[in-house]
Amino acid sequence: MSDAPIGIFDSGVGGLTVARSVRDQLPRESILYVGDTAHSPYGPRPLAEVRRFALEVLDDLVAQDVKMLVIACNTASAAMLRDARERYSVPVVEVIQPAVRTAVTVTRNNRVGVIGTTATITSRAYNDAFAAAPHLELFSQACPEFVEHVEAGDTTSRELVALAEHYLRPLVEQGIDTLVLGCTHYPFLKGAISYVVGDGVRLVSSDTETANDVYRTLVRTGLERTAPGRPSYRYEATGTSAEEFLRLAELFLGPEVGSVELVETGTIPLPSAPRRSTP
Ligand code: DGL
Repeated sequence: MSDAPIGIFDSGVGGLTVARSVRDQLPRESILYVGDTAHSPYGPRPLAEVRRFALEVLDDLVAQDVKMLVIACNTASAAMLRDARERYSVPVVEVIQPAVRTAVTVTRNNRVGVIGTTATITSRAYNDAFAAAPHLELFSQACPEFVEHVEAGDTTSRELVALAEHYLRPLVEQGIDTLVLGCTHYPFLKGAISYVVGDGVRLVSSDTETANDVYRTLVRTGLERTAPGRPSYRYEATGTSAEEFLRLAELFLGPEVGSVELVETGTIPLPSAPRRSTP
């Protein structure tokens, strides 16, 4: 049992899709959310740089005594998952494995598409994760411009729909029956994506699948919150404008977001960061 918050992190607003699903499944849990807006987007950056930024944010979350870390970002998961599991003593949940597990069970024709940022797709993290299911054929597509549309609050413009056509049509032509939304920003674009791929393609979204994993991990490790009273939800951003992040968070999550604090990451020197003690 633990009344500490669950720490959830993304480069920006994408991880709010995961936070929202966690709130749906675990309404008594407190959440501390960080959007690393100072370094967003992660997608076009080299993986080593993403790894450094992500570890800074996770170190800061652990220093704020979260009871679990949720890497609500595919790009960061691709860049540093193994490091994170070794580095911290709290459980770490990420977004790639849960989505892959679901895709493997839902596909009927074994032709699966995955879309993500350039860094995620070029890291081949999904190819590695699907390696345990060699009977599947995987078709990957980077969708570099999707994130900017989400970060601008745009889910319906003609330009966005044309972009979705451009990115997704080749996957549809490959006969996929399942599409993994391998970026936590993309659930905000589900309307445009399913408009283009049609009803015949099942969308597997990291938000719900990851929340299922958070639930499982919490119950399995006995870390559920038992305190009476309402949980707390805190939102932090590392960029220069809390207002901008709040505006987007309210657009996507609703007015109850309330406020966003600006924080600086990297203030904790990495060598003294909390580490898992070796048994
Ligand atoms: N939402 C993130 C992901 O799942 C990253 C988006 C970005 O910053 O490029 O990959």
